[in-house]
Amino acid sequence: VGAPGRAATAVAHPNIALIKYWGKRDERLMIPYVDSLSMTLDVLPTTTTVRLDPTARTDSVTLDGSPAEGEVRRRVTDFLELLRERSGCFEPAVVDTRNSVPTGAGLASSASGFAALAMAGAAAYGLDLDRTGLSRLARRGSASASRSLFDGFAICHAGRGAGATADIGSYAEPVPAPDFDPALVVALVDEGAKAVSSRAAMRRTVETSPLYRAWAASSRADLAEMRTALLRGDLDAVGEIAERNALGMHATMLAARPAVRYLSPATVAVLDSVLRLRSDGVPAYATMDAGPNVKVLCHRADAARVAEAVRGAAPGCSVVTARRGPGARLQTGAG
Ligand code: PMV
Repeated sequence: VGAPGRAATAVAHPNIALIKYWGKRDERLMIPYVDSLSMTLDVLPTTTTVRLDPTARTDSVTLDGSPAEGEVRRRVTDFLELLRERSGCFEPAVVDTRNSVPTGAGLASSASGFAALAMAGAAAYGLDLDRTGLSRLARRGSASASRSLFDGFAICHAGRGAGATADIGSYAEPVPAPDFDPALVVALVDEGAKAVSSRAAMRRTVETSPLYRAWAASSRADLAEMRTALLRGDLDAVGEIAERNALGMHATMLAARPAVRYLSPATVAVLDSVLRLRSDGVPAYATMDAGPNVKVLCHRADAARVAEAVRGAAPGCSVVTARRGPGARLQTGAG
């Protein structure tokens, strides 16, 4: 444990899972059932400043300039509580978060958000952690956040056992993909917040979906294939595995009781445009998270054509083209 840095600012980018995390075996420690693998993006960063304030009575949390409320505020203050327990420094904090990605719309805002909060918060409270430790810590905010600590491709290990053993074993680390630098065309078909939080949807899926176990088992096989496809830099293989893994995850939710359906008519229209691109000879593969937005993996040279096809399929949607991006980092000089 180092001396509290008092104030620190960190920047983190969202990541999009190619092999999804869905379902927790420990909700308090945020331990996933399955390993997951993602690409950190170079767009839509979150910037978070954490400043300790010994004169304050409670934490202050603002999100894009407005006071955070309800569940969002509670998740941040729970995380600050964890930082205080670990550091032995019990001062309240002022947290200011700026998102360039809509919060709660299934676009990994919790991934970039908790990666930035873990990094800035650990520095402010004086926790001396390496990147693995930071990734374990970020996992406590949101399991997908553990992956945003790393550049490019990263795997989050689900770990084994229970309690402290599970906690130690569940962290993210980089995955080699030396010659793989694709584009990910992000189609924001609906920027509103989702109707069911991913936390609630995961719980319902694990508890009630008869398809969940089958998907989890197939996901293990997908992961092994994905690693070799990434090593080969094989876009078609990476895309095929990612697309089936995502559709399988959504199938588990559709089979939950009651069903959780994040895919909207616009989502399906974009999925159709991806199929048309493929039949026209353009390699393009889709993945969707806990929301209606679609992310399309393709060669960088095809990104403009893919973006155009997606816009045509869902008029009015905003499209952002991403590449692999950097892991979370502290901003020096600011703070
Ligand atoms: O944002 P979280 O950590 O509650 O989980 C969302 C999980 C998915 O985005 C649907 C998949 C993933 O692995 O990121």
